[in-house]
Amino acid sequence: MTQASVSSRPRFLLGLEPRTLDLADPTRTVLEYLRLDERRRGTKEGCAEGDCGACTVALGECGADGVVRYRAVNACIQFAATLDGKQLVTVEDLAEGERLHPVQQALVDAHGSQCGFCTPGFVMSMYVGHEADKAAGATPDRQAINDRLAGNLCRCTGYRPIVDAALAAASEPAPAQADRLRAAAAAALPALARADTLAIEADGRRYFAPATLDQAADLLAQWPGATLLAGGTDVGLWVTKLHKRLDTVIYLGDVVELKGIVERPGHWWIGAGATYNEALAAFAGLHPDLAELVRRIGSLQIRNAGTLGGNIGNASPIGDSMPALIALGAQLHLRRGAAGRVMPIEDYFLGYRRTALQPGELIVGVEIPKLAANQRFATYKVSKRFDQDISAVCPAYRLTLDDQGVITEARIAHGGMAAIPARAPRTEAALTGRPWTAETVAAAMAALADDYAPIDDMRASAGYRLKVARNLLRRFHLATTAPQTRVHVLAKEVAA
Ligand SMILES: Cc1cc2nc3c(=O)[nH]c(=O)nc-3n(C[C@H](O)[C@H](O)[C@H](O)COP(=O)(O)OP(=O)(O)OC[C@H]3O[C@@H](n4cnc5c(N)ncnc54)[C@H](O)[C@@H]3O)c2cc1C
Ligand code: FES
Ligand code: FES
Repeated sequence: MTQASVSSRPRFLLGLEPRTLDLADPTRTVLEYLRLDERRRGTKEGCAEGDCGACTVALGECGADGVVRYRAVNACIQFAATLDGKQLVTVEDLAEGERLHPVQQALVDAHGSQCGFCTPGFVMSMYVGHEADKAAGATPDRQAINDRLAGNLCRCTGYRPIVDAALAAASEPAPAQADRLRAAAAAALPALARADTLAIEADGRRYFAPATLDQAADLLAQWPGATLLAGGTDVGLWVTKLHKRLDTVIYLGDVVELKGIVERPGHWWIGAGATYNEALAAFAGLHPDLAELVRRIGSLQIRNAGTLGGNIGNASPIGDSMPALIALGAQLHLRRGAAGRVMPIEDYFLGYRRTALQPGELIVGVEIPKLAANQRFATYKVSKRFDQDISAVCPAYRLTLDDQGVITEARIAHGGMAAIPARAPRTEAALTGRPWTAETVAAAMAALADDYAPIDDMRASAGYRLKVARNLLRRFHLATTAPQTRVHVLAKEVAA
């Protein structure tokens, strides 16, 4: 096996300053490290579960092109060990003496803060957006700002002045301090890149951050019971909310081979370690509905960290990506030691959070077929809120039609309707071999009750879930056959 350098220490930049961490607990969060060790208390703890954004910080990484890119993440659910090789920027880094960053000054000018608890988090989301806009030469509109700030909650100011501040700051250039931070990262981070595995052992616990897929597979063969960690948007909560002790963690976020996103003639390849945001263009290339679905997963902070592999690995019955992957006929690529295997993704889910993943095995990526000209596809997310909410029901459909408009193949899957993301065989049978008409849809809507026995819970009752699932199938029919205006009317009826 690849020999890990035992007890190596994470090295990173905190703002402009280099840091090397001695971690007594390999699952110590970035938020704990900042507030308790560094006494940087601008970063707040609101929920400790990735929901409120009060803990938002910026992570800078230097690409192979030498360009430093920032992303906003929730410090409360990221482990400090994952900072290795990165730059961590907090609200304390932005001002230069008395001179505030433009986003801070704009918040002051627009009266965008009252109690102030949420303000550092908003500042950091706005700072990352400001940096991205300056790099791209882009000017954001109100909708773009709303999307960017959807993961930051404010209980007292109201959002209009905050959004106004972000819009006002957009016309200001990046200040010298922001350029200084960027230059420091560009100079220091390449020297911190590792070719070997970072290995921490403390308090009887182990944390490994392999740099290659071979190293990851070897480590997993050695520690088959290890917890795999990707973006930590599920695993982080096991520690902060469930207070689980994770004895051995293998972090996959530094494995370059898992991040690949490649368009090939018949399909898209998305590596298990690609974040939702990194994979957004691929999803948009597959279908606009998929890009819209991804835009509604969590918040920007969650999509900046959460990965497709993590969504599949977590195997939640309400994970948003799975119905679409099943309907599209995606193939899952797994690896155990040196051996790889491929399976249709629907075969991966065996029971409630039970999967076909063997001990010592990991997900490498997903191959997602492109749509043919005679195929129709849609996926919808129904939840109580538009942003930052978990689905009550999430269906996905792919129909293949012949020249006469007869359905030759139907693939339908739902999240939120069973203990696993599951296909609807009886509904598919009610469609196959029939013309794609309102009568066929009515028969298929009835068949949905034979495929699923949805649960009642705080998100939705069983009756509501079934009714919504039926109406969404009708919406899909209208969307693929009727003028667009009619579909929008119906979409509102379904939501009501
Ligand atoms: C505030 C908030 C909002 C959220 N909103 C949504 C939402 O709207 N829709 C939604 O679907 N989810 C949502 N989630 C859940 C979560 O973001 C997703 O499930 C995400 O895809 C998890 O990815 P990750 O990289 O963070 O996984 P991690 O937390 O790192 O890992 C999750 C699981 O997958 C396993 N795993 C990770 N990588 C691999 C791999 N390569 N091979 C095998 N197993 C692996 C881990 O061991 C673990 O069991 C939300 C979470 C939070 C905190
Ligand atoms: S403390 Fe609420 S998102 Fe981190
Ligand atoms: S200013 Fe009080 S929570 Fe936003």
